[in-house]
Amino acid sequence: GSTPPAAGPLLGFTAIPTDTGDRVTVAPGYTATVLAPWGTPLFSTGPGATWVGDGSEDAAAQARQMGDNHDGIHYFAINGKSDEGLLVMNHEYTNLQYLFTNGVVDSLDDANKDLNAHGVAVVHVKRTAGTWAVVVDSAYNRRITGNTLMQLTGPAAGDALLQTSADPTGTAVFGTLNNCGNGWTPWGTYLTCEENFNQYFGTTNTANPGQTRDANMVRYGLSSGTTSRKYEQYFDRFDWQKEPNEANRFGWIVEIDPFDVNATPKKRTALGRIKHENAAYAIAADGRVVVYMGDDQANDYVYKFVSTGRYIAGDIVNNRNLLDSGTLYVAKFNDGATTGDMMGTGEWLPLTAANPALSAFSSQADILVRTRQAADALGATPMDRPEWVTVHPQTREVYVTLTNNSGRATTNDANPRTGNVYGQIVRWREAGNDPTALTFEWDIFVLAGNPTIAQANPLNNGSSNVTVDNTFNSPDGLGFDNAGRLWIQTDGNYSNTGNYANQGNNQMLCADPVTKEIRRFLVGPVECEVTGLTFTPDSKTLFINIQHPGEGGNSHWPAGGTARPRSATLVITKNDGGVIGT
Ligand code: FEO
Ligand code: CA
Ligand code: CA
Ligand code: CA
Repeated sequence: GSTPPAAGPLLGFTAIPTDTGDRVTVAPGYTATVLAPWGTPLFSTGPGATWVGDGSEDAAAQARQMGDNHDGIHYFAINGKSDEGLLVMNHEYTNLQYLFTNGVVDSLDDANKDLNAHGVAVVHVKRTAGTWAVVVDSAYNRRITGNTLMQLTGPAAGDALLQTSADPTGTAVFGTLNNCGNGWTPWGTYLTCEENFNQYFGTTNTANPGQTRDANMVRYGLSSGTTSRKYEQYFDRFDWQKEPNEANRFGWIVEIDPFDVNATPKKRTALGRIKHENAAYAIAADGRVVVYMGDDQANDYVYKFVSTGRYIAGDIVNNRNLLDSGTLYVAKFNDGATTGDMMGTGEWLPLTAANPALSAFSSQADILVRTRQAADALGATPMDRPEWVTVHPQTREVYVTLTNNSGRATTNDANPRTGNVYGQIVRWREAGNDPTALTFEWDIFVLAGNPTIAQANPLNNGSSNVTVDNTFNSPDGLGFDNAGRLWIQTDGNYSNTGNYANQGNNQMLCADPVTKEIRRFLVGPVECEVTGLTFTPDSKTLFINIQHPGEGGNSHWPAGGTARPRSATLVITKNDGGVIGT
């Protein structure tokens, strides 16, 4: 249920300047407080009941504490409340230098601790006397980790490509990894998206590095040798020479029922295997469910899934497995009638066994496991690293962040710069405003840039809605609120020098999709990215995540002093109790 836009200007807050301090700054009249940083105990007894703070916790403790590197996040209200709900969030990866006392994985328990610091947290939260806190010992509290049993479902489940010596059924896999962006469904489930899963797979047989990686392993970027986390040393399943199919069981979107602590997470193979960023849904007039997705790698693609079945509000049995059957499409962005105007037309190309261009694939399962290669075969448009996608709550216009692509050598209207260091946001309108349509029109909403320095390429000043006051690079997190404000988060270069002079730390901005005006709302601490966003139903509390502060060794946020830096959630409220953004 979305709230109609309020009367008056959409952006009601005062923009703030850039910042380079080891702190959070936010627009005047707003307050940001820290909630549930990495290591926060979810239970008051047993392993992990106490946060030590020096990296000395073991694997069993980490499995019952908040994970590391908070990313995509969603608030599920309890009984519609705006002061009590379940916060469900991703723990994308870990910072080894802070996770361990000595900064490295050098035991089996360390490897398991690292797996347990990944995944998802379901955390019961409640506001009491104006302050949000974790409800410790809640029966809802749950950690889902790199070791949690999950089920592969949909067209590829059980296929030979998903079978391993430990799981000849090809349906039972342990863990979810590199959970980046997220999504949610109108039937009340959480979607967690597996991104750079390749980094967990290597081989200890370094006498023969790279020589037995097949084309699939190469296309997805598995290491030819050892990895920094050393899982391949401790578990056969992470050594691709020993278990060549285990990596095929990662790179999926996983559906989780946040209200059932015993529910098995489901890896939905119908949505394709890519380096998933997030998942944003739209419901077609006939009830079919459309899910938009990006594959975050330089020169990879934008996708959408259209379900076969139809969503029926309140029908739990009908809705439960809607994501198991449907058609996956990949996007082609054409320049349209004019080249050079940063707008054009587009097509959705079906990734189906019936598509004659995919006759080299043996089955639908083969297409889904090797989604990237199938999309290559269809001539999809290589994009400047597709990150988050979001759908406008009223117009259903779809926006995607293309974060950057410094290696781009050839251009087109949707990716108009070679050596793209700043990124852009592209938006499209489906034909007939029908999310299931096979064609669309698109334009660039903002070409990020830096007008505070002399630019050899005038395009690097950015589009006309980029100014000396709102300059930023590398848009990544993205989402609309109910009133149609577009919130933009960055994960970019925070050096504040050279191309990035006067851009400061990573930040969060807010845009009016009609006027295209963009204002800076918040700036994060040193060496962080700002990611993930979700609102309470009354739009008066905003939760976002600060990920990897001090990844380069120069932050002590949030505790200060000499403390290890910690990824954490920020709770943002307006001091007058109003709607965020007004
Ligand atoms: Fe995990 Fe593409 O960001
Ligand atoms: Ca054009
Ligand atoms: Ca991201
Ligand atoms: Ca990013």
